[in-house]
Amino acid sequence: MASRTRVFDLFRTINIASCQCPAHGYRGNFQVANAVPSKDYAFEIKCSTVRYGLGVTREVGLDLVNLGAKNVCVMTDPNVAKLSPMKAVLESLVKNGIKYDVYDGVKVEPTDTSFKHAIDYVKSRDFDSFLAVGGGSVMDTCKAANLYYCDPEADFIDYVNAPIGKGKPVTVQLKPMIAIPTTSGTGSETTGMSVFDFEEIKSKTGIAHSALRPILAIIDPLHTLTVPKNVAIYSGFDIFCHALESFTAIPYTERGPAPTNPALRPVYQGSNPISDVWSRFCLQVLKKYFKRSVTNSKDIEARSSMHLAATMAGVGIGNAGVHLCHGLAYPIAGNVGTYVPEDYGTEPMIPHGLAVVMTAPAVFRFTAASDPEKHLEAANLLGADITGKKQADAGKILSDTIIKYMDEMKIDNGLSGLGYKADDIPELVKGALPQHRLLKIAPVQQSEEDLSRILEESLTIY
Ligand SMILES: NC(=O)c1ccc[n+]([C@@H]2O[C@H](COP(=O)([O-])OP(=O)(O)OC[C@H]3O[C@@H](n4cnc5c(N)ncnc54)[C@H](O)[C@@H]3O)[C@@H](O)[C@H]2O)c1
Ligand SMILES: [Fe+2]
Repeated sequence: MASRTRVFDLFRTINIASCQCPAHGYRGNFQVANAVPSKDYAFEIKCSTVRYGLGVTREVGLDLVNLGAKNVCVMTDPNVAKLSPMKAVLESLVKNGIKYDVYDGVKVEPTDTSFKHAIDYVKSRDFDSFLAVGGGSVMDTCKAANLYYCDPEADFIDYVNAPIGKGKPVTVQLKPMIAIPTTSGTGSETTGMSVFDFEEIKSKTGIAHSALRPILAIIDPLHTLTVPKNVAIYSGFDIFCHALESFTAIPYTERGPAPTNPALRPVYQGSNPISDVWSRFCLQVLKKYFKRSVTNSKDIEARSSMHLAATMAGVGIGNAGVHLCHGLAYPIAGNVGTYVPEDYGTEPMIPHGLAVVMTAPAVFRFTAASDPEKHLEAANLLGADITGKKQADAGKILSDTIIKYMDEMKIDNGLSGLGYKADDIPELVKGALPQHRLLKIAPVQQSEEDLSRILEESLTIY
């Protein structure tokens, strides 16, 4: 009898090993307990509670009552502070008797200095919960303020991603944070990431830990109706690259080593069957609604769909990760010269989604060989006809599809359109190299020469 059981076990093991379905097809099933496998064999999906609906902001006061909040820090930026999303939020807080203070000093495309300003503000008061009302800049600032409020002795650098900072895991209990996004782009309302421009290295970096994730994301498409054209375009390209990068990221079974403790599994785990669902959905939405949402700001169907897609892509990136477009975008934004985009105020800056999409055509030509079928599928979901197309052409087909969208949205002609020259490329590569967390999620390992070539190819696009 015992030997019969052993034979069955053996058959079962062989079956699991040869099956390629998402449930069984990963060789991690063979890992010996207590050994540390060189590659990961598991992934997990973490997400904030998401509530979506037109006008649903009116519920936030009751959410805070339900949380037992006594003094809420409401964070926003000086522009959103004057707009209808903030009005709707404050009405709900007042109606439900919630005591709050507003911090409206968030810097658009925040820096370590602007983060510290917000941190000093919250530390000087007594809060039991946080509410972010704004785009990625506001939500990311609020996450950092919550973290350092709850660990007041920490040095700023302690939690910043290694190797730039010390990459300390968050072990303190954070206060509950609710996020109400007012742009359709970053998906920050569902992620454990907080991104800022680290001025001394002229590049972005961030803090990444699941503890930073808001407990509730209130997705109210009404807020998108005031978003100006260029903010809709650039934040739309942020969704676009989130979906494409998490879809094409290294499979989670290829990322290693497996963590010694599940709590240490990184936020960016690589592509996996669940985040692929979010990415595919987003690519289809972009095909149908991206252009419509830009050409007519009152197209509530298109703007609502883009708003939901941003959150969906956030779930994808928040677990699978993003790779080369984002890794290269950080120094592109950090080394800005005199570029002043329309609809973003008067200071020189390169909006996140613009910095990200600039290298996308060259990036996906570079990564296509890793999985031509997936690159072709992405192009198809974005509207390209791939009938009879060869796998060898996958990179060009996806790249041409991206360029078509960029052209339609009148995006500047490559990095040269943002003021960069060939001489600037070594500096941009230098800023990208420390972005280990992102670069290692790319499906193809890259050398410095590869990064230089991608940037050179991105100087002029059309
Ligand atoms: N944490 C994450 O997961 C994550 C992911 C991607 C990007 N980011 C970061 O997010 C930041 C970019 O955020 P963003 O693209 O959402 O834009 P943003 O927050 O920087 O805002 C852009 C502009 O739009 C304005 N605005 C916002 N909502 C508006 C509304 N409803 N009506 C009118 N104007 C409005 C703002 O005042 C600002 O001028 C970058 O710093 C980027 O690095 C974070
Ligand atoms: Fe992004």
